[in-house]
Amino acid sequence: MIAGQDDPGDTSVKDNDAPAETPDERRETDRRGTDRDPESVHTDRVRAAIRKEIRADEQDEVVERAPQTDPIIELRDVSLAFDRPILTGVSFAVYEGETVAVVGESGTGKSTIIKLILRLLIADKGEVCVQGQDIEKLTYEQALEIRQQMGMVFQGSALFDSLSVFENIAYPLREHTDLDEAGIEKRVREKLQFVDLDPDQVMELPPSELSGGMQKRVGVARGLAANPKIMLYDEPTSGLDPLTTGTVTNLILKLQRELNVTSVVVTHDIRSAFRMASKVALLHDQHIVFFGSPEDMAASDDAYIQTFLGGY
Ligand SMILES: Nc1ncnc2c1ncn2[C@@H]1O[C@H](COP(=O)(O)OP(=O)(O)OP(=O)(O)O)[C@@H](O)[C@H]1O
Ligand SMILES: [Mg+2]
Repeated sequence: MIAGQDDPGDTSVKDNDAPAETPDERRETDRRGTDRDPESVHTDRVRAAIRKEIRADEQDEVVERAPQTDPIIELRDVSLAFDRPILTGVSFAVYEGETVAVVGESGTGKSTIIKLILRLLIADKGEVCVQGQDIEKLTYEQALEIRQQMGMVFQGSALFDSLSVFENIAYPLREHTDLDEAGIEKRVREKLQFVDLDPDQVMELPPSELSGGMQKRVGVARGLAANPKIMLYDEPTSGLDPLTTGTVTNLILKLQRELNVTSVVVTHDIRSAFRMASKVALLHDQHIVFFGSPEDMAASDDAYIQTFLGGY
């Protein structure tokens, strides 16, 4: 007997909130049940756990898209190849105040999407629009101006080890604003407090003296320094323990709720993606194979989505 299939004692994959099945649905369930393997049972367990997590996080209400406004970020039919095609016909839109999580296996082009939005890469085909402007058509200076409106949190924090925490956060302010020293210090303190770090304790330290989670938070504070309306994150929780992952995830949610920041988050971490995202974009084999709410993704019967979620 396959575990969880016929064993009446196994209730772990049952969804108590699910509506009762119709006779047709029951037949469909029975039909599927005949060829179920342990892996698909495992997948069901993961999906049930994810659905439960979404429901349990009702206080973490995510912003639904506001269809009456224009997108803040939009990729339209974007294709890009290096030595092989990476992205083909990729389209999606991010509206004001939304957080879109881009997920997918390693090497599918997630970081490439962030680089396209920053115009660090140019698409072979299609358009990348930020605040309604096709960024490829802008002059270098105009593109730089748009880029300055975007805060970026890099994988591994990418802090300057030779600079103090204070100077790391002050760096974009010195580069891109006219703030005087007093204004810079006020802003640095404000951002450190926003990420729940005590300015007096950490400001003068080199990043190497902070824990991984604190370094990530300093990375977020630096990304936020110039008060951007758009934040881009590349793997903000990679390499963090579950508790710190939760802290960083909550921080991204706080930005969405309190400052209405529009975000694109590239992540391997499907659980934190599900907690923070208004929409999830799943990249696979050059394409976005799913774009929608975490609830719809968790409920999808698509074989690839099931396999992808089952791996977590
Ligand atoms: N500048 C480049 N030149 C050539 N190939 C590149 C370049 N940048 C990325 N690639 C290739 O493009 C593919 C997508 O890379 P990308 O970094 O976007 O993947 P990813 O989804 O972010 O992966 P990971 O999850 O491992 O970070 C990879 O196969 C990578 O080797
Ligand atoms: Mg990457």
